[in-house]
Amino acid sequence: MRAVGLRCEHREDTPCIDDPAPRLSWQLESDGADQRQTGYRVVVEHDGHTLWDTGTVDGPASVDVAYAGRPLPPGALCTWRVQVRDQDDRLSDWSDPARFRVGLAAWTACWIRRDRRYDPAVPVPGDGGEVDPDDGMLGQLPPCPYFRRPFELRADVARATLYATARGLLALELNGARVGDAVLSPGWTDYHARIEYATHDVTELLCTGTNVVGAVLGDGWYAGMVGFDARRPGNHYGRELELLCELHLEYADGSLEVVASDGRWEATTGPLRYADLLMGERCDARREPGPWRQVLARARDDIPLVPQRAQPIRVTEELRPVSVERRGPGTHIVDFGQNMVGWARLAVSGERGARVQMRFAEILDPDGSLHVHNLRSARQLDTYVLAGTTEEVFEPRFTFHGFRYVEVTGVDEFELTGRVVHSDTPRTGWFECSDDLVNQLWRNINWSQRGNFISVPTDCPQRDERLGWLADAQVFLPTASLNMDVAAFMTKWGYDILDAQLPNGSFPDVAPRLLAEREGAPAWSDAGVIVPWTMWRRYGDRRLLERHWPAMERYMDFLLRHNPDLLWTVGRGNDYGDWLSVGEQTPREVLATAYWAYGALLMSEIADELGLPDRAEHYRRLRAGICAAFNAAYVGDDAYIEGDTQTVYVLALHMGLLPEKARPRAAERLVESIRRNGGHLTTGFVGVGLLCPTLSEAGHGDVAHELLTKDTFPSWGYSIRHGATTIWERWDGWTEDRGFQTPAMNSFNHYSLGSIGQWLYEYVAGIRAVKPGYEHVLIAPEPGELEWARATYRSVRGAITSAWRQDGDTFSLEVEIPPGVRATVVLPDGETHEIGSGRRRFSTPRDGRGSERELVRARPSAQL
Ligand code: BGC
Repeated sequence: MRAVGLRCEHREDTPCIDDPAPRLSWQLESDGADQRQTGYRVVVEHDGHTLWDTGTVDGPASVDVAYAGRPLPPGALCTWRVQVRDQDDRLSDWSDPARFRVGLAAWTACWIRRDRRYDPAVPVPGDGGEVDPDDGMLGQLPPCPYFRRPFELRADVARATLYATARGLLALELNGARVGDAVLSPGWTDYHARIEYATHDVTELLCTGTNVVGAVLGDGWYAGMVGFDARRPGNHYGRELELLCELHLEYADGSLEVVASDGRWEATTGPLRYADLLMGERCDARREPGPWRQVLARARDDIPLVPQRAQPIRVTEELRPVSVERRGPGTHIVDFGQNMVGWARLAVSGERGARVQMRFAEILDPDGSLHVHNLRSARQLDTYVLAGTTEEVFEPRFTFHGFRYVEVTGVDEFELTGRVVHSDTPRTGWFECSDDLVNQLWRNINWSQRGNFISVPTDCPQRDERLGWLADAQVFLPTASLNMDVAAFMTKWGYDILDAQLPNGSFPDVAPRLLAEREGAPAWSDAGVIVPWTMWRRYGDRRLLERHWPAMERYMDFLLRHNPDLLWTVGRGNDYGDWLSVGEQTPREVLATAYWAYGALLMSEIADELGLPDRAEHYRRLRAGICAAFNAAYVGDDAYIEGDTQTVYVLALHMGLLPEKARPRAAERLVESIRRNGGHLTTGFVGVGLLCPTLSEAGHGDVAHELLTKDTFPSWGYSIRHGATTIWERWDGWTEDRGFQTPAMNSFNHYSLGSIGQWLYEYVAGIRAVKPGYEHVLIAPEPGELEWARATYRSVRGAITSAWRQDGDTFSLEVEIPPGVRATVVLPDGETHEIGSGRRRFSTPRDGRGSERELVRARPSAQL
């Protein structure tokens, strides 16, 4: 047995932490069976000194072991390793080392900005007069500021660390070389509440004698256009881009020198004429940066600076075009074959001053031109003006686009490479089965997750919106957290949610809070409770629950204060209901009250976990009261629920709102609605993720399978049959009868309706957590008519695999369970096995299939 996948605060890379007791976790791997950890030893070192040696600690703990050694020195780069002891008292070798950095305790740097007094008296569009007539308002966007500071090294440097952030986006250079591989750094937070900084080891980039540290900033979320109210200048946070950085030079003799941003730095403008997340970027390669002028410096304010909590945004993959079609002189349409998010790198040569424009779109109009109507006011336009050298390469730095197609104008010879960009969350889930349509659905879900997990979980990557909508994220989180390790990413977004809470206790619709400023809608604001609960169930993260608890309590108080008769009628904000459902409208009050009861259930579970029995009791009583009010107000005879929509039954069943005896009939009504709709679903964002799990739990897994493989409208398969390579925002984003839906809201890359992904892992493959953090799992595949399926989920405790096949008369299953995890295996005929770790095979006659339905009943409690 060995410890692998070492993580500090959910990260396998080298995170920078500011918690005095960061949590250390590892996974276990072994070739043997029935292995478990009976003890561990962790050693944490810094510069050859031991900061913490736990000695051998008895027990199975391997997730979130809190550091309890000597105080962590600010700025330290710590190395840690772990040794584990198995059930036969055998000690493993030491694991490979992992590292974390300790954040800065105090900064000496100032915020610096370009001094606009040096700008021409009358602003010149484009800051240089070379505005293209058709650039319109884009020519009015301000140029990107460049900063630099030369410095001398006085001796040999043992280690150099650069801490940096910006009000805006930041690209750093040291001696002309790019620092780090992050893009769009430092990402998006509510800049009024906190700003994240990045940390880089730059020792290798130093040279003897004079060195130059430099940076260029883009408007980004701070000063650029964000959301559907694309205001300028200064948009939502501020107008002036500012840099803050400190280079810590640790000399070999033990002394420290700090080169910090201050009044000695210089700034100018250069080739980047503007950059905006929604609009695109313009680079004029003819321009050299200059003239350099002294910056304006101001002391640090009291907005907290915190280390980046999640993996940075990176370019994670490159795509080559699948076709390039000439549409006229100097006009081409490039097809990458995949709807993606990022940008295109252009390689080109030509005359000095020649201009290449790239416009980006997700889809084509029937005449073969770009369909850009759904971008609304976003332009997704990158412009490159050639310097006239032999081979030029342009790659934007401060924008991103949602696209499959690029229209390139102004040049006939060029090469484009698609650069895929997202928060670099490691993959944890793999799924494959015998049906290609389903496999394409899984790929589409993953592409939509990648494209929309950019610093925050956003709703779409192409139009003028790209906001952190709470409901979208909470419905998709169970799927997202299986596909990828989003623990650090969502922990960071958790802070955004806390920052976004309104003074009255409600959570809003979006975090960071912007534009949608009032209390959130049911299912949106509820993410303030559901997201932390889901994180705990998936990753076992208890500290996150502690951090969010007071805010969640304030939220629950807000609901109760406004709705003393226990139906959620007041304080529903924008009240979106079951957003983008088709053919059926779920009554909003029913949806709202169901969500409130569900929130109370989750609160009682969390209170139990946190050891708060009085609060647990309070929420249990509250829940019982809301359920009673719900049944009295909305549930009629024979389990009829007001609205009679698929979503009302899904919510009532999943959230355990009905008396036990009414459940089977309610489930039948759900199936009747599907039948009434020709075997189709009608659910929108709120109902869709729960639909198939609810059917399975209620014994109608066959109906869930039918929905999965359906390809007539509306269905997942319909979009795939019509070429979708990502999840569409709407079931009817495009239909044979009507063509495109309204351009006012029609994204082709929106993950919400992809929240069926959870069901693929948890029901088709059958891997479900019984206890938070996968200490105990249930393997209960539901094969339907598929021939085979296999999934692996790399949990916080190690990789879990379920792979099955049904051949002729036999159903066979292979499972792999990591050390320390207990599994209950339930075969389709109901045969049950309790097993420990290792690889095992089971087989059983096929015809017992179906009886499993009664086995895995919904607890009247929360199911992830
Ligand atoms: C967004 C959705 C969001 C919704 C709320 C839309 O514009 O794209 O993701 O949940 O608004 O109404």
